[in-house]
Amino acid sequence: MDTLTSELIDELATTHTLPIEGYEHLVAHQDEEAAALLAQHADAVRRSIYGTDVFVRGLIEFSSICRNDCLYCGLRASNASCERYRLSEEQILFCVDMGYELGFRTFVLQSGEDGWYTDERLCPIVSAIRASHPDCAITLSVGERSRESYARLREAGADRYLLRHETADPDHYALLHPKEMSFDHRMRCVCDLRELGYLVGVGMMVGSPYQTTAHLARDLAFIDRFKPEMCGIGPFIPHHATPFADRAAGTLEQTCYLLSIIRLIHPTVLLPATTALGTIHPNGRERGILAGANVVMPNLSPSDVRTKYLLYDGKICMGDEAAECRRCLDLRMERIGYHVVVDRGDPRPNPADTTRRPA
Ligand code: 5AD
Ligand code: FES
Repeated sequence: MDTLTSELIDELATTHTLPIEGYEHLVAHQDEEAAALLAQHADAVRRSIYGTDVFVRGLIEFSSICRNDCLYCGLRASNASCERYRLSEEQILFCVDMGYELGFRTFVLQSGEDGWYTDERLCPIVSAIRASHPDCAITLSVGERSRESYARLREAGADRYLLRHETADPDHYALLHPKEMSFDHRMRCVCDLRELGYLVGVGMMVGSPYQTTAHLARDLAFIDRFKPEMCGIGPFIPHHATPFADRAAGTLEQTCYLLSIIRLIHPTVLLPATTALGTIHPNGRERGILAGANVVMPNLSPSDVRTKYLLYDGKICMGDEAAECRRCLDLRMERIGYHVVVDRGDPRPNPADTTRRPA
């Protein structure tokens, strides 16, 4: 680790912000020593806010049908070899009830951009969950929609929304997406969601094709500016039936390094150790938690559809029932000294933040 890197890490751990050049230097000068120092600071700040609590979210992948054609994603419309499915309202509500019994208090409804789910179809599902489980948080992850649609879903009872920005660099965005998709529209959606009162999750893949250190620095500067309540980052993993089939996957080390930096930029952020991280390394999720993550998102989808929701190759937990994943994660977290809690897992205030005065 060079002197500047160590100074930047100290500055970040104290002030929780750096100029974009500082982020670029950190990304460009990653080594084991810098990673260990960042992880140590990230763990300390996370413990001061969340202790050793790890939040769980029950992920329900309710439709694999997608109108988009993102170059990296196995669910892209032009992947004819992807088996498509849609869960019925009854199946979704069954997953939620089962998840509730297993101790989940947040449900993430995720799908491709499936036009069948108009507001008329999706709002009643959200309302039904809201009515049957008033103590739970409902998170949607269903892609780009109109502001009006986001407003209706919010009124129906959705609390949070995950829409990864994918990259904060418009030129990089254009290399990962077909020309029909627009960086500006995606950012518009992210801003609409915040204005409508959702807790918003953004995020990007680590090691995606064409990604440079300058792109990652822009991602970090965006996270610094926007302060999303949630931030989903995981390694890019190639999918065999996409144009990026032959690209290299992102690494465990770089993902953990960025998780630590993001924790320090935004101490209260809800940061998942993603399934993609668990896929590239047998202990990827544990390593993510140790680097500063505090959320895990096991799958609650029925086992017969799991193998059809493949964003990338090699995805873990394909044959496991929800209860098995829940138990498995409990054990994995206990083994590293953390504890999965039965809790909605809302953001907690930072006790060190003296700018927040009680009302
Ligand atoms: N590897 C890793 N992550 C992927 N995603 C989509 N395809 C891949 C892939 N091949 C991520 C995107 C998307 C989220 C749901 O999954 O960032 O926003
Ligand atoms: Fe699914 Fe371990 S989390 S089996």
